[in-house]
Amino acid sequence: MSYQNILSNTDNGITTITINRPSKLNALNKATIQELHDAFNEANKNKDTKVIIITGCGEKAFVAGADISEFADFDVKQGKKLAANGQELLFDFVENLSTPVIAAVNGFALGGGLELAMSAHFRIASDNAKMGLPEVSLGVIPGYGGTQRLPQLVGKGRAMEMVMTAGMIDANQALDYGLVNHVTTQEELIPLAEKIAGKIMRNSSVAIKAAIKAVNANYKDGVDGFKTEIKQFGKCFGTEDFKEGTTAFLEKRKAAFPGK
Ligand code: COA
Repeated sequence: MSYQNILSNTDNGITTITINRPSKLNALNKATIQELHDAFNEANKNKDTKVIIITGCGEKAFVAGADISEFADFDVKQGKKLAANGQELLFDFVENLSTPVIAAVNGFALGGGLELAMSAHFRIASDNAKMGLPEVSLGVIPGYGGTQRLPQLVGKGRAMEMVMTAGMIDANQALDYGLVNHVTTQEELIPLAEKIAGKIMRNSSVAIKAAIKAVNANYKDGVDGFKTEIKQFGKCFGTEDFKEGTTAFLEKRKAAFPGK
């Protein structure tokens, strides 16, 4: 598939999706959101893709937010639709993907950019990264899940402060908050993401899929995460990966998971 606003490249089990609008600091317009949906969907279905890395093009920004020029004249109905469509197409979609998604935050991750990073299963950042939810400075609130995922990741008080001040935190503060798992130099960011992806790929993709479902269940309204865990745990016993993993352990060899 060819894209106008993003790049997607698959190599050694890793699909790297790069948002490619550096002149607009990779701001998410409607077309980019649709292309990201398509690229994530395609990667998730691709048997060669074991891990997805999402990052931004250029040295300045991961994503500087939703494209303000596109919604500045929206009314109430259009505003609601913008958030609903975006959440369904991209943010919820990424969070619930069965393939692990790592956000490699290479610069500004603001508004929809931080919301996209927070939809990924976890985040790493370069030391020049800056993160924030500046929406209230524009007279609006985060609409792509930011009011929900930021408190989940950093706690209510820190999230409230970030949202209310519309301020930015730097990479080290994000690390301290638990918003990102690792901080490194810009040059080392993608190699680090690939190194972590390599560790993930050694494990059973079927079990990882089940683990994503179980962990995410904790954050879904009306869903009992413990029950989801029991169900997913049980299902693993019927997989070829489980037979291979346990047999390999008992035979003191490395598992070669069929991914089934
Ligand atoms: N939507 C649309 N365009 C954006 C954008 C966004 N969220 N963020 C940056 N851009 C555009 C700028 O309009 C500018 O385009 P132009 O050259 O055609 O005028 C270009 O990207 C470069 O941005 P600029 O503001 O000149 O860079 P800077 O280094 O001075 O400032 C930021 C960087 C990130 C601090 C600043 O761009 C900014 O505050 N962006 C908006 C962040 C935001 O509020 N996001 C939440 C949206 S809900």
